[in-house]
Amino acid sequence: MNTVTNVRLTTAVKVNASLYNQVEDAFAILSKLEFVNEVKTIKRNKLTIKQLFQNDTTPVIVLESNGPKLYFSPDTPIYFHLDTVKVKLHMLKQKKQPILIEMLNDITSNLSTFNFIDGTMGFGRDSYMTLKIFKQANIYAIEQNPLIYFVISEGMKNYLEPEEYERIHFINDDYNNWVKQNTKLVDVLYLDHMFEQTLVENDRMGELSRMTDVIQNIKPIEDYKYLIVKAHYKSHIFKKLKVTQCLRKSSKTHYGLSTKSK
Ligand SMILES: C[S@@+](CC[C@H](N)C(=O)[O-])C[C@H]1O[C@@H](n2cnc3c(N)ncnc32)[C@H](O)[C@@H]1O
Repeated sequence: MNTVTNVRLTTAVKVNASLYNQVEDAFAILSKLEFVNEVKTIKRNKLTIKQLFQNDTTPVIVLESNGPKLYFSPDTPIYFHLDTVKVKLHMLKQKKQPILIEMLNDITSNLSTFNFIDGTMGFGRDSYMTLKIFKQANIYAIEQNPLIYFVISEGMKNYLEPEEYERIHFINDDYNNWVKQNTKLVDVLYLDHMFEQTLVENDRMGELSRMTDVIQNIKPIEDYKYLIVKAHYKSHIFKKLKVTQCLRKSSKTHYGLSTKSK
């Protein structure tokens, strides 16, 4: 389910001509999105983020030189950040594979090219990691929240080589709609819905989960060759989507896999 939202745009306190241009570009992109109702540009005037929220609780996107930051509240911004991707890429250098990469290696070893549909882009870390590691993959990164879609896709673009930029497509939609309309493109569909457990956390993932739909809204999905699901080990999503849950004793995060001949 997509919710319609308003948004305010402003610059970092230390402003320059490029940031003013970025506000204009952001205004144009966001105004065209179906689920954005009203976009307003506001003068920053050295105001703190807290002050921007004093008389108005509309989300704010701040255009900064290293990418846009989204504030649903003054405390925890949402933006593209390489933190956990770096950890996972470092694991690879030590010959330890992240589980998602291990699964993708197994199921795509005979394919010269494949489409990876990240149905729940969120912070974009899994899309980014898959893009970097699988040079033969085309990535479709889908995010239903229009503001998260904007800050993460624009933020990630700053970290992409031209060749990678060509292989990734950012989409603002509900993956259920997109998959139905693009069944032929769906080789691997990957879903990483919000854990119920993250709701109490006071970090960026907690902030994301408070602002987006959690796992209750899962609909059955049929159109894929492979479906990979990541979720809390107690989650009902594995049963609901009929994927085989791969047990991991050492972690509360489990992965599930289902294979279909289309
Ligand atoms: C846990 S986050 C994903 C984190 C991501 N795997 C990463 O690497 O950063 C889940 C995201 O999926 C989005 N989402 C939930 N249901 C969706 C749907 N039906 N279609 C598209 N996006 C959805 C939420 O808005 C949220 O941003």
